[in-house]
Amino acid sequence: MRILFIGDVVGKPGRRALAELLPDLTADVSPDFIVANGENAAGGIGVTKETALEIFQAGVHVLTLGNHVFARKDVYQFLDEDPRVLRPANYPTGVPGRGWAVYSDESGQPVGVVNLCGRVFMSEHLEDPFRVSDGILEELAAYTKVVVLDFHGEATSEKGAFGRYADGRVTAVVGTHTHVQTADERILPGGTACITDVGMTGPVDSVIGVRKELIISRFLTQMPNKFEVADGESILSAVLVEADVSTGTASKIERIQVHQAPASNPVVL
Ligand SMILES: [Fe+2]
Ligand SMILES: [Fe+2]
Repeated sequence: MRILFIGDVVGKPGRRALAELLPDLTADVSPDFIVANGENAAGGIGVTKETALEIFQAGVHVLTLGNHVFARKDVYQFLDEDPRVLRPANYPTGVPGRGWAVYSDESGQPVGVVNLCGRVFMSEHLEDPFRVSDGILEELAAYTKVVVLDFHGEATSEKGAFGRYADGRVTAVVGTHTHVQTADERILPGGTACITDVGMTGPVDSVIGVRKELIISRFLTQMPNKFEVADGESILSAVLVEADVSTGTASKIERIQVHQAPASNPVVL
């Protein structure tokens, strides 16, 4: 099974790049199952029903989220209604949505997807993602050997440690949240594909997707300002994981970065 995991889709430029670039990418790498992180899909923070549906329309099967999951109130009901959307499983019990589920790939093979959020350098006080994962993976084992886990977090140490903790129990641990793709993709000794961060799908000339002037001003003045998604050419960041469905182990993980073509200059005669 070939699983394509696409990094944090940021705002309209990210959604547009996804819709533009995914058809060719799909033709190139023939994924059986596509997961994307959508926690920045709506205006750079959170997701709405409309933006989630737009991402599904582009060809994504499952949307994972992160620390911005509850940024937009109008998505709460949708989180309960649409099983294709996952929020981190280690939020306190009773909040809207679900943190893991079992799906089918294009050929009907079962695949589990889990979303967790890290706690290092994150402001939310969540349950321990390591221990929460134990119960989920035990339950998932009854349904499928192939499991993709989005570990959404800031610290490379926490994400790297989690990959090693889950090694041999999941097919892939893909880090999200920092919006910067790391070059540490590998198959761990137990057969789990792991990357600290898959990177973002959003505007390149920006600071992690936000207009660079606003972020620089925040650093210079330490005064709060409203972040706005940058515009211009976007990049689509992803990894492709090849899974053995009989064992649930990964045989390959490959980093992908596809740039939108720059707007062509008018021909002046
Ligand atoms: Fe995040
Ligand atoms: Fe993000």
